[in-house]
Amino acid sequence: MTTSLLLTGIGELTTHDPSQDGPLTDAALVIEGGRVAWTGRRTEAPAADASYDVGGRAVIPGFVDSHSHLLFAGDRSEEFAARMTGTPYSAGGIRTTVAATRAASDEQLAANLARLVAEMQRQGTTTVEVKSGYGLTVSDEARGLAIASQGTDETTFLGAHVVPPEYVDDPDGYVALVTGPMLEACAPHARWIDAFCERGAFSVDQARTVLSAGAASGLRGRLHANQLGPGPGVQLACELGLTAVDHCTYLSDDDVAALASSGTVATLLPGVEFSTRSPYPDARRLLDAGVQVALASDCNPGSCYTSSMPLCIALAVREMGMSPAEAVFAATAGGARALGREDVGHLVPGARADVVVLDAPSYIHLAYRPGVPLVQRVWTRGRPLG
Ligand code: NIG
Ligand code: FE
Repeated sequence: MTTSLLLTGIGELTTHDPSQDGPLTDAALVIEGGRVAWTGRRTEAPAADASYDVGGRAVIPGFVDSHSHLLFAGDRSEEFAARMTGTPYSAGGIRTTVAATRAASDEQLAANLARLVAEMQRQGTTTVEVKSGYGLTVSDEARGLAIASQGTDETTFLGAHVVPPEYVDDPDGYVALVTGPMLEACAPHARWIDAFCERGAFSVDQARTVLSAGAASGLRGRLHANQLGPGPGVQLACELGLTAVDHCTYLSDDDVAALASSGTVATLLPGVEFSTRSPYPDARRLLDAGVQVALASDCNPGSCYTSSMPLCIALAVREMGMSPAEAVFAATAGGARALGREDVGHLVPGARADVVVLDAPSYIHLAYRPGVPLVQRVWTRGRPLG
């Protein structure tokens, strides 16, 4: 038997319903069968089996974090400390985590993943994409994705994260491994394929080879590109019609035009620029050009060890020219687009009931009160968290 729950006393309800001009005030929302069944004025709410009064607080859709690397072991806090005193970030640091991840047991990897997913949920994230990419052998990549697929539908095979130490003299041999036996072992546990197209990682031709092989195995493509400098990755993503291209920190006018006409979502990861002390991507330029923008955490032990979508929103508003409304949209509906999902990232009837109550009167407080734990309650698929 399904029971319905009425959330009432909502001071401000952000639904992202395109037929509404901004959030509803003095609102209510009904959850039934794990889905949103109704939204509207509090005084017009239908009867439900149970009700919960949120006391005038703001309600938003759960965050959709479309980019994270939670399958790892080890710690790189010393690398972070060195960076803060002048050592630049480089892709090569990934190999430190590869060594620790290979040495970890399945139980350790699963426990670390569960700890980080729980940390994200407490901060309002209700959908998370998880990449492999710190195993870089056939068995280490496959076991990581098998573990991740128990916790999320959004799993990404990132065998092409960096060339592992045993292949440094034969990078094309490594690409052949990734597109051959590694892809075969990983595809059953993954929805997406990704590559790190950057100096120090993979060339545009290697990335194309990896993405094409993934597509032939039924995996949809996404790409890390233009993070550390300008490059051809964003153009490749647009040409291939990938769902999303992530980082987009260094973009030419042609890159912006290609994004605007392709429909590929540009996923911005401001926690990386914060944690590597780098220039932020120009979100305003992208939005003004009509590019679809998402915000995600990129939570990983190297370039950005935050799991906090509210921090990413605050940085996007303060440093990247986004309005609070644009940033919250990018962290919810934008993330859903970046994952090709229509059931999450908004709160219109029929959507998954992923609901976040903020201890604040408005979503604007997510940027206005940076660093403050404002997430008061979370429902995932209509079930209350903890
Ligand atoms: O998205 N850019 C590539 N991968 C990660 C960094 C991983 C690491 O430094 O361990 C990123 O920033
Ligand atoms: Fe990443």
